[in-house]
Amino acid sequence: MTSDDVDLVRFPDGFVWGTATASYQIEGAVTEGGRSPSIWDRFSHTPGAIVNGDTGDVADDHYHRYPEDVALLADLGVTHYRFSLAWPRLQPDGHGALNAAGVDFYSKLVDELLDRDIKPWVTLYHWDLPQSLEDAGGWPERDTAYRFSDYAALVHDRLRDRIEYWTTLNEPWCSAFVGYAAGQHAPGRTEPAAALRAAHHLLLGHGLAVGRMRAQDPASTLGITLNLAPVDPVTDAPEDVDAARRVDVISNRIFLDPILRGEYPGDLRRDVAAVSDLAFVVDGDLADIGAPIDVLGVNYYTRHVVRAGSASSGSTGRAAAWVGSTDVEAVSRGLPTTEMGWEIDAQGLYDVLARIRRDYGAIPLYVTENGAAFADEPAADGTVPDPDRVSYLDSHFRSALRAIADGIDLRGYFVWSLLDNFEWAWGYTKRFGLVYVDYETQQRIPKDSARWFAGVTRAHGLPE
Ligand code: FCB
Repeated sequence: MTSDDVDLVRFPDGFVWGTATASYQIEGAVTEGGRSPSIWDRFSHTPGAIVNGDTGDVADDHYHRYPEDVALLADLGVTHYRFSLAWPRLQPDGHGALNAAGVDFYSKLVDELLDRDIKPWVTLYHWDLPQSLEDAGGWPERDTAYRFSDYAALVHDRLRDRIEYWTTLNEPWCSAFVGYAAGQHAPGRTEPAAALRAAHHLLLGHGLAVGRMRAQDPASTLGITLNLAPVDPVTDAPEDVDAARRVDVISNRIFLDPILRGEYPGDLRRDVAAVSDLAFVVDGDLADIGAPIDVLGVNYYTRHVVRAGSASSGSTGRAAAWVGSTDVEAVSRGLPTTEMGWEIDAQGLYDVLARIRRDYGAIPLYVTENGAAFADEPAADGTVPDPDRVSYLDSHFRSALRAIADGIDLRGYFVWSLLDNFEWAWGYTKRFGLVYVDYETQQRIPKDSARWFAGVTRAHGLPE
């Protein structure tokens, strides 16, 4: 059956289709073109930090193979491509003039995209902080926010003639809490109070950068990408309901409220009182952080279901990221999971989008990441069958369509990811790509989901 034979559920005209990647996960070439080490270079070379001792030294070698990767994007029929700029490539010391070779690389990538009618959607920071700035204290230091806004303003000024869409940060929650409290991401610190400082300075860097870029070019479309999840209590017992509220505060509202309302949630201060008095929040910061944005990027992978636990239950591992609420326990519902162990819950995407509209108003939304890791392997005939990814994406696209039908201003969707790549602490063991990468040869093989996704972008819809 072809798409001509069936009714399609269509996306609105102008709805944007893309895929997403991040610099450290795909580029490789970590010592070329004047790039300096980032916190991820240091962390990935730390024994025991990454599964199999994997590093991003080579990754997908995208730095050298970007024309081939842009051709793959064109085959997918996408209108936009979301990628991140490596700060240590563009401004190796974290301050001062831009590095010409770094600008040249991204400039060529942008031209290649535009030649194929694909619009670049850039993220200024997807976790690769110059190591020199971490050596000076990293995101817990206020100065890092100023360094970030200077970097953002310089890069924006150089590339804004060809790039309309600018995202300041990707998932500041992970940068702050997985990096500085749980220690599972770079820089691998386990200092809860420092993680709260980091969150605030990431927000401040975002707000200052938005202000600078807005002043430089009112025509740019500016935003930030947050990883958001519904947080549900496992029962309606008051302690479970409060556990869910606390996790919602420390993962969702700690970013949404300052960015979209210019204030921290009232209950944050109470929830984290044993860890920090938030004295690092300076008068005027929240006005900067609340600078108007044009779009909000939402990364959605799964829902959290939680219950109240014992005081020590979450003090190590990932749950240590819930600063001030490390007693809360995540509960599995026994649903099918992806290779990440994340439960597949397409309704959660609808719920997240609806919640933003309900609690924060009608900001234009884009799903800037959604996708799934599965244990993909090439078959004997050379194809890479990945029916689970097709079904994951299909169900989440349908949630997006329902959100749009209900009047939510969702304008686009970026699948994570174009290519299999370096999945942070998991190294190369988790494959999220629409395109399979053979890391021995760097051969790219579009998976069955790539062909399916190209059908969706061309039809601009799904079978009824
Ligand atoms: C998100 C990250 C992205 C990728 C996906 C699976 O948290 O932004 O780089 O690792 O998860």
